Amino acid sequence: MSRVLSGIQPSGDIHLGNYLGALRAWVDNQRDHEAFYCIVDLHALSGGFDPSMLAQRTVEAARSLLAIGLDPELCTLFAQSHVGEHPRLAWLLECTATMGELRRMTQFKDKGGESESVRVGLFTYPVLQAADILLYDAEQVPVGEDQRQHLELTRNLAHRFNHRYGETFVVPEPVVPTLAARVMDLQEPTRKMSKSSSSALGTISVLDPPEEIERKIRKAVTDTEASVRYDPAAKPGVSNLLELLGSATGADPATLAGQYSRYGDLKRDVAEALAEMLRPVRERHSDLAKDPELVMRVLASGAARARAVAGPVLGRAMSAVGLLPAP
Ligand code: AMP
Ligand code: TRP
Repeated sequence: MSRVLSGIQPSGDIHLGNYLGALRAWVDNQRDHEAFYCIVDLHALSGGFDPSMLAQRTVEAARSLLAIGLDPELCTLFAQSHVGEHPRLAWLLECTATMGELRRMTQFKDKGGESESVRVGLFTYPVLQAADILLYDAEQVPVGEDQRQHLELTRNLAHRFNHRYGETFVVPEPVVPTLAARVMDLQEPTRKMSKSSSSALGTISVLDPPEEIERKIRKAVTDTEASVRYDPAAKPGVSNLLELLGSATGADPATLAGQYSRYGDLKRDVAEALAEMLRPVRERHSDLAKDPELVMRVLASGAARARAVAGPVLGRAMSAVGLLPAP
């Protein structure tokens, strides 16, 4: 079975963009791949974070991932900070990456890369991400559109390392969905939906109850043209709604557009489809709350399984660069 690995930051509620862009593929992949999924708590340290909340957020992210449908019997779910191999490999890769290529990362530039006071960890963030992936010999990485550039960097680092020190890493590929790879904010449809949205109405959490979903979709920004067409450049709000409906129901957004003449009807069906899709997630989430120890057990066994794979791969990389074997 081929390997997949992916990661998510423990930085707040998991939203519809995470779910449709990446996490639904995580669930699908666990059946026919050897799947490793990582809650990237070390990455969370690269931005503003609250130390008193971090541990709780990691547990909460794990609970939501189980609610979404990750099955600890079928996949390995773990916290990045529990597997010391990640930052250790990141150092070897920092000594492989160049300032120039990291400076070109758009996510770094968007998050304030020009400023003198920006954290070094924000700059080296994509190198730690490369380590996350390369430690598991992952062939595929299910992610949303915004991670393509980080995956390209990972591929370049793997190639360069292999070329310089001998064949060590599997070169991974991103797997990005054809629909909803970039879910847009409902209030500002030219920006991607994110955990740090300026408006609470802009983002739908996978745990939102149906009334909340209905309210947010009803208030979603469209335009004044009042004709339903799939045209992301000219009609970002309406196209986002069509893409959400398409992604939830498996239909093509342009074909769906032909079935509606009023925004209100489209919104009603979008809200219904999303509520239906997320209903089992909410139900499982409340069931999981009844057994708080379960999540801790899953993360403990996940860390042990992850270490068993990551340890030998790190050993391979350390020996390739010529470090003295540890006594
Ligand atoms: P993050 O929350 O940034 O850790 O992202 C976790 C996963 O969700 C990554 O694979 C992202 O590419 C994906 N993702 C985040 N936001 C969106 C979005 N608005 N649309 C589609 N995918 C997204
Ligand atoms: N950078 C990713 C994001 O913000 C999270 C991430 C960290 C990741 N390590 C990873 C994604 C490894 C895929 C594989 O969404």
